[in-house]
Amino acid sequence: MERAIEKVLISAEEIEQHVAEVGMKISEDFAGKDPIFVGVLKGCFIFMADLMRHVTIDCSMDFMAVSSYKGTTSTGAVKINKDLNEDIEGRHLILVEDILDSGVTLNYLKNYLMVRKPASISIVTLMDKPARRKADVYADYSCFDIPDAFVVGYGLDYNERYRNLPYIGVLKPEIYSK
Ligand code: IMP
Ligand code: MG
Repeated sequence: MERAIEKVLISAEEIEQHVAEVGMKISEDFAGKDPIFVGVLKGCFIFMADLMRHVTIDCSMDFMAVSSYKGTTSTGAVKINKDLNEDIEGRHLILVEDILDSGVTLNYLKNYLMVRKPASISIVTLMDKPARRKADVYADYSCFDIPDAFVVGYGLDYNERYRNLPYIGVLKPEIYSK
């Protein structure tokens, strides 16, 4: 598996440190607000598990599953594969994403959930690629701003592979061209 990685972009130690900082910041900002964290599957699963262990306030959690990507380029279409189980009316919603790229997915999700009248919608992302933004959406909390490269690991995949790497790595270009 690791033979497919060109270089480590973010080490496991750096991830641990930044995720802890963001978890503590969110705990301060949302103290007393009983927010609901909504993980966007599948990419969020490792990030959210680690983040939540640094959130020290009362809160609840739910998950959505969406798909928008095939390979390394967006199809532009967002499909809801699993919707929320919880009622979000009047709740402070915090969307938890692996990576904010074009922003198409989160922009769609925000509009989709807004109709249910949450008190607020915030976004926390592990990584942000600001250079690639197409939709008018920004992260309230981001652990890392990264350059325009396709990355895998710590939950992120290329065609469902490499999610189990403990660090964030850049894939070798020859992997795409196979
Ligand atoms: P957006 O709609 O273009 O912002 O794309 C968001 C989704 O695309 C993320 O939740 C990821 O699942 C996927 N994605 C975007 N960039 C990468 C990447 O570099 N590696 C793996 N997945 C990515
Ligand atoms: Mg993905």
